[in-house]
Amino acid sequence: MAAPQHILAIDQGTTSTRAIIFDAETRAVATAQREFAQHYPQPGWVEHDPEDIWRDTLATAREALAASGIGADGIAGIGITNQRETVVVWDRATGDAIHHAIVWQDRRTAELCARLKEAGHESAVRAKTGLLLDPYFSATKLAWILDHVDGARARADNGELAFGTIDSFLLWRLTGGAVHATDITNASRTLLYDIHAQRWDEDLCALFDVPAGLLPEVHDNSHLFGHTADGLFDAAIPIAGVAGDQQAALFGQACFAKGMVKSTYGTGCFMLLNTGEEAVASEHRLLTTPAYRLDGQVTYALEGSIFIAGAAVKWLRDGIGVITHARDTDDMATQVPDSHGVYMVPAFVGLGAPHWDPDARGAIFGLTLGSTQAHLARAALEAVGYQTMDLADAMVADGGDPPATIRVDGGMAANDWLCQFLADMLRVPVERPRHLETTALGAAFHAGLATGVWKDLDALAATWARGACFEPKMPNGARATLAEGWHAALAKTLTVRG
Ligand code: G3P
Repeated sequence: MAAPQHILAIDQGTTSTRAIIFDAETRAVATAQREFAQHYPQPGWVEHDPEDIWRDTLATAREALAASGIGADGIAGIGITNQRETVVVWDRATGDAIHHAIVWQDRRTAELCARLKEAGHESAVRAKTGLLLDPYFSATKLAWILDHVDGARARADNGELAFGTIDSFLLWRLTGGAVHATDITNASRTLLYDIHAQRWDEDLCALFDVPAGLLPEVHDNSHLFGHTADGLFDAAIPIAGVAGDQQAALFGQACFAKGMVKSTYGTGCFMLLNTGEEAVASEHRLLTTPAYRLDGQVTYALEGSIFIAGAAVKWLRDGIGVITHARDTDDMATQVPDSHGVYMVPAFVGLGAPHWDPDARGAIFGLTLGSTQAHLARAALEAVGYQTMDLADAMVADGGDPPATIRVDGGMAANDWLCQFLADMLRVPVERPRHLETTALGAAFHAGLATGVWKDLDALAATWARGACFEPKMPNGARATLAEGWHAALAKTLTVRG
């Protein structure tokens, strides 16, 4: 029998879980997706039930397999990609989580981060991890669980508990508790991992009060992590690739050369610039992060993280009922010639790069009696463009050459109007690939490299195909006026001065 040539990619995102089966030509031959519940127990807190995540992972993987008609023995490997930074702590004996997962958007540890910053720890943390002291990252959330679940610290000290980001939790469940591991991209978002020495760091564990015994083993992205446990699928499937979703999208977009940039529009927006073998330290509050590690060799990236992109549209729909379907925003944005002076600063969970202001909250400026739903929808989309512009400017200020093009992906990138607005505000051609599922594809690429479906990066790059290109065409004066209005609105929303 010929070697299997299909990959099952699991993309566990912030609001939904997807399973996609790709063939060796990167065609998605079957897809299954489920949205799951978000829990907001207090203002600024965001939680997920890990059982929902596990249930949907298994269900979507099985659905995609059934829809493809390919048996588990026709799958060369599984690639996992996931919402990063989100924390799960579970019991090693039962596999049960001891608390809901605390999601990357959760702000409950803002005060602790501020205290650590005041005590002067940020520069040392930054030097080792490439990150900042912000509640976005995992360590303070992990400590919070240990401090707030009865008996958790004692159980952690006894070696009874395990910590993982979502990839690690899924690996544990998929392998029936045989594997407690993660990959370098997920490890690097915890605030506990030294991205230069490439190991968990004792001093950081001490600073955040996290026992090292909780932490998973860290591997390359393309690696045989283990096999699925008996009874989950018709046959055991190798799990051969793991990467955090934004790094996976960079990989899936084939941004393998230094200077290449991608920007993904999901719940949030995350722009990554490949900086090659050099871990560039940002002077404009971007993050330094491993993009991938293959055969022990790390490629680094500079990252700009925006917490709210698609989530603003979801809020217009679910939070205040201004729209019925997320896709309505496309039509609404083009129904009006401009936003009528309305600016939305979507600081619903504080602001990420380059401001890092966990206490800022969302605001809408410029409302008049003439403001309509369409103006609000347009302002939400424009905010995505303005924030991306600020990230691109920070990257150039950090010494990067202005990128020749930006590759976009994620659900919102299907919106032509938004792509054109991005090209106009960034003054750079925006390239959209034929397939927008580049996050899942990146995980598939990692698993496919480890299992021989693809030979090397050149073979992967050859699969990338452009679907559309948007050239900048807005006159400079109009662009400057819009940008000025945005920066004025932003200044009124910020609670810190960067
Ligand atoms: O860092 C958070 C990020 O990984 C979440 O991605 O796709 O759920 O917006 P997404």
